[in-house]
Amino acid sequence: MESFSAVLRTASRARHTEAESSAFMSGLLGGRLGVDAYARYTEQLWFVYEALEAGAERLAADPVAGPFVRPELFRLPALARDLAHLRGPGWRAGLEALPQTRAYAARVRECAERWPAGYVAHHYTRCLGDLSGGQIIRDSAERTWGFARKGDGVRFYVFEEIPNPAAFKRRYRALLDGLRADAVERRRVVAECERAFALNTAVFRALGEEFRVTA
Ligand code: HEM
Repeated sequence: MESFSAVLRTASRARHTEAESSAFMSGLLGGRLGVDAYARYTEQLWFVYEALEAGAERLAADPVAGPFVRPELFRLPALARDLAHLRGPGWRAGLEALPQTRAYAARVRECAERWPAGYVAHHYTRCLGDLSGGQIIRDSAERTWGFARKGDGVRFYVFEEIPNPAAFKRRYRALLDGLRADAVERRRVVAECERAFALNTAVFRALGEEFRVTA
């Protein structure tokens, strides 16, 4: 039988390709968007991680979601430094969530409050994504906009306390495989993961409208 981590990965593959190849993401990675677009995207991540980490606090002792709560994944302090670098010391006052970002964060919050296994779907989608593809984004951002390597501006993508991401991901997948949920509940988690990808894609679409890629 396929492991649950493999089921999740397979189920989200098509959605992943869609997110990855969105006009905004490919524009960002192709160096065809300005640093302002990158800053706006980073601001959206702030709202999502705010919801994710508020949930982490609430769920640390939860039998289902608790094992996934790992301080080395917390991103808000790194995001605060990046945003101060990108927007200046007044970054907080200028923070603004797109409606699509508000919907995404609201769904994360709702899961954190009512459905721990659903929260795991969001946790997986963000954390493994930021640990994996995030490194490609970081590399591109450093080259395109001249941020110091692993420095201010891209700290969000630097997991200081995870020296071996491959090993971390293996352990994370083992946690997914052992998720305390029966077959029906697992199917619901897979569906929530697909929803998490769709919520991300909606944010990219909105950002793509705000920042048009110039040839
Ligand atoms: C241009 C943007 C992106 C690139 C280049 C990218 C690239 C990658 C790569 C190379 C992996 C494979 C890592 C591995 O096998 O260990 C990966 C995995 C992953 N990515 Fe992305 N990604 C991008 C965007 C996203 C987005 C927007 C999300 C969702 C928010 C996401 C979620 C994930 C997840 C959940 C995994 C783990 C899959 C698994 O092994 O279970 N990625 N990504």
